[in-house]
Amino acid sequence: KTIDWDVDAAEKGGYDHFMIKEIHEEPKTVRDTLNPRIKNDTVDIEELGMSDDEIKSISRIRIVACGSAYHTGVTAKYVFEEMARIPVEVDIASEFRYRNPILQENELVIAISQSGETADTKEAVRMARAMGNMTLAIVNVVGSSIAREAEKVMYTWAGPEISVATTKAYSAQLIALYLLAMKFADVRGLLSADEMKSLITDLKKLPEQIEMLLGNKERIQKFANRFVAAKDVFFIGRGIDYAIAMEGSLKLKEISYIHSEAYAAGELKHGTISLIEEGTLVGAVATQENVYAKTVSNIVECKTRGAFILAVTTVGHEDIEEVADYVMYIPQTNRYFTNSLAIIPLQLFGYYVSVGKGFDVDHPRNLAKSVTVE
Ligand code: AGP
Repeated sequence: KTIDWDVDAAEKGGYDHFMIKEIHEEPKTVRDTLNPRIKNDTVDIEELGMSDDEIKSISRIRIVACGSAYHTGVTAKYVFEEMARIPVEVDIASEFRYRNPILQENELVIAISQSGETADTKEAVRMARAMGNMTLAIVNVVGSSIAREAEKVMYTWAGPEISVATTKAYSAQLIALYLLAMKFADVRGLLSADEMKSLITDLKKLPEQIEMLLGNKERIQKFANRFVAAKDVFFIGRGIDYAIAMEGSLKLKEISYIHSEAYAAGELKHGTISLIEEGTLVGAVATQENVYAKTVSNIVECKTRGAFILAVTTVGHEDIEEVADYVMYIPQTNRYFTNSLAIIPLQLFGYYVSVGKGFDVDHPRNLAKSVTVE
């Protein structure tokens, strides 16, 4: 009697979809991207092949990417600028290409891409090189076009990512970008040995913290099932929380086909708040201490207009239960790294809404895993 294996099922490791399998691989991909670049309690990114003086000579950074990779670039802007005091501009690659962009002489161009084949990002790298700027690719697929086009490559060790919606590669990109920021800050004398050690300790805790968050998946699935009929969802946040709101929104949109948008929480009152009605779902991310109270006041603004508030915040902010209808807590970590934890419940939320709607999560309509054409 032959066993007609469902190859897919075997490849999915018994998970229902590649996406949920890959979400469960995030602790490993974080560890695999992090560990090779931590030596003797400091950051050592060999593949950069740059002396400390060469790193010091970089006066600006330009990040070019698309989709979720662009969102990690937004996170990186906040982290680099605050930690390493380097100005960072983040460009959607398809915009960068046609804007006749201005690059300064010592501006490092970083291209972020899971597939390493995205046409717009590849062309942006080509343009940057033609303009004489140094280019660094942060890619997941070894030997991909963008890896070959760029002068330098820093791989994310997430392994093959099958699901169209990126999860584990996104998390690995964040780790690569944190490490770069820490290296730049260290070389510029902005991190003491103790501060570096504390950052590394927090980075090393992320895999087990992600593992712990994955333990909430049944609770999140129950919550997600209440919103399969949602029509408009808003994700709001300030600073690094705004960056993750973008990714949470894209995850929901691309696999559940529910309209959603991410908004800087402080920007709501300049127009969009008029869209908040009775029952509108607002996902509010509030992990950043320096703007926590402000974000809570934005939550209240939405609440008073009838919104249903899903809050994502760090343990210790239980006061948020006074204004939020549902809270997903993430463990304490360094303020720079909260996106790596907040993204887990948001990925699970998007996944379970899509499953609840009966959609083919791994192959969302009209989407490809890599957009190799314009
Ligand atoms: C993310 O879930 C999407 N699949 C999409 O936005 C993707 O991030 C974007 O197309 C960029 O792809 P890349 O990272 O392979 O360049």
